[in-house]
Amino acid sequence: PIKAFLFDLDGVIVDTATYHYQAWKRLANELGFDISEEFNERLKGVSRMESLDIILAHGGLTVSDEQKAELAEQKNQWYLDLVGRMTSEDILPGVATFFSQVRKANLLTALGSVSKNAPLILERIGMSQAFDAIIDGTKISKGKPDPEVFLKGAAELEVSPAECVVFEDAVAGVEAGKRGGMFVVGIGSPDVLTQADLVAPSLDGLTVDEVLAATVA
Ligand code: G6P
Ligand code: MG
Repeated sequence: PIKAFLFDLDGVIVDTATYHYQAWKRLANELGFDISEEFNERLKGVSRMESLDIILAHGGLTVSDEQKAELAEQKNQWYLDLVGRMTSEDILPGVATFFSQVRKANLLTALGSVSKNAPLILERIGMSQAFDAIIDGTKISKGKPDPEVFLKGAAELEVSPAECVVFEDAVAGVEAGKRGGMFVVGIGSPDVLTQADLVAPSLDGLTVDEVLAATVA
């Protein structure tokens, strides 16, 4: 039986995926090229430094490690400017209702995010206490699609991977959940999240019963 729900943060609980994209786009533009929204799908769930590598390769640029650190820092500053203005109003529609259903069903919850800024974002939106376990970018050595972030979440909750459902908006995140041996609910489009076991456009309107029913179907 399912005992725990593991949630990605960016793009599932809050729309910071847009902020990451804005900040990376600004960086790319300053470097003399552009990144499309479609290209951005490849960056979702991927760590800061790996994202930068993908972007630099896309622009055909090679830079020193020192410059790379500066570029990543610049992007993060722009990103933090956007995050700094967030409030509980930025929690995505349906999250509050879904979480109250999760509590009623006595399911455990964990956050599974590759972001080093995850604790700050949770604080901004008033959800620091909403999870039984929090795994963020400071607690892992491998970003998604490696399953580490979700396996650590399951371990901290003392449940097995087969007892977990992952909620993910990123192609890399869906892959991480599947590689971890978990049931994965994709949040977004079925055309993009092809590996997910179930796909919903958002948590809004999704019910815990529906998810649990799908895991036994
Ligand atoms: C999440 C986002 C990625 C981001 C990564 C690292 O996984 O989906 O777009 O690159 O976190 O975020 P950070 O806040 O540490 O730069
Ligand atoms: Mg995400």
